[in-house]
Amino acid sequence: MLILGIESSCDETAAAVARFEESADGTVRRELLSDCVASQIAVHRLYGGVVPEIASRAHSEAICSVTAEALEKAGVCLRDIDAIGVTSHPGLIGALLVGTNFAKGLAYACGKPLVAVDHIRGHIAANYYEYPDLEPPFLALVVSGGHTSLIRVRSHVEFETIGRTRDDAAGEAFDKVGRVIGLSYPCGADMDRLAYEGDAMAYSFPSAAISDGSLDLSFSGLKTAALNLINSMSQKGIEYRREDIAASFTRALTSSVVKRLRDALALTGDRRLVIAGGVSANSHLRNAVTALCDELGIGLCMPPRSLCGDNGAMIAAQAYYEFKAGNLADIALNAEA
Ligand code: KG4
Ligand code: ZN
Repeated sequence: MLILGIESSCDETAAAVARFEESADGTVRRELLSDCVASQIAVHRLYGGVVPEIASRAHSEAICSVTAEALEKAGVCLRDIDAIGVTSHPGLIGALLVGTNFAKGLAYACGKPLVAVDHIRGHIAANYYEYPDLEPPFLALVVSGGHTSLIRVRSHVEFETIGRTRDDAAGEAFDKVGRVIGLSYPCGADMDRLAYEGDAMAYSFPSAAISDGSLDLSFSGLKTAALNLINSMSQKGIEYRREDIAASFTRALTSSVVKRLRDALALTGDRRLVIAGGVSANSHLRNAVTALCDELGIGLCMPPRSLCGDNGAMIAAQAYYEFKAGNLADIALNAEA
């Protein structure tokens, strides 16, 4: 079957078409036919972060053409589509409403089934294309600009959050520290690059792995320690290399996440780990998680960089499994922040 996936929860308007074919033995072949993203980053960069009102308007402008482009690149038309999946939560409410109402309109006009997709489930599902054998159960780490969670994926549609950030998300911490050292929004990719040129041992920052027996994280303390250090050095006229800040901050963040993964894998006994979300593009994190999985003999799945950030492909993949489980939305679907 062919699924059209639509995503508009934050600052990317995205649509994709994917084909899912179930064989007699129940295995599903997952093939991405097109994946189109209209990024709003250039607009939000002027303000140092996402401006929700601007995001909603930009989604309105782009959503028709991005969807048309996804259909065209896949070589299909709306008539061929078997179901329409759309992100309904969580995210910026105005941005989500553009996507959900557009998808509802399409589904209603064309008589197609509509599937509401959880954005975080979608991030995890982005891995299904790259890894044809990937099937639950497995442990997933979702690290993005808005979310950081450790999730046990019990089946394609059953998820249990076993750890989460209690405050900032990992990407948010990268963005805030990056901003103070003069990088432009979003700062994650530049922090990644700068960290190679700095001394990771130059500064020591507190761990984000909370020591209270839970699997939770707190990036706020780590972020604040970095911001305080930078501000106090600036006030005292002490020169610092921003590469050293990037490298030391990245080391602290990465080792906190790896610690939490080690704890979670020991607790759950899972033998397969999936990472997902914008921050899963971070090469230092990818290297550290690869080393952990090599050490423990755990199978690791990481999305290609093109599918780490927000995209329609991930929504199409999760929509397929929600559809198969009978989780259909009706035309009264609403978005939830
Ligand atoms: O998944 P995503 O596109 O949006 C949300 O669902 O939040 O994630 C965006 C976040 C931003 O904070 C961005 O700075 C971060 O992902 N990011 C990175 C890298 N590439 C993007 N963070 C660290 N290293 C990267 N290479
Ligand atoms: Zn996302």
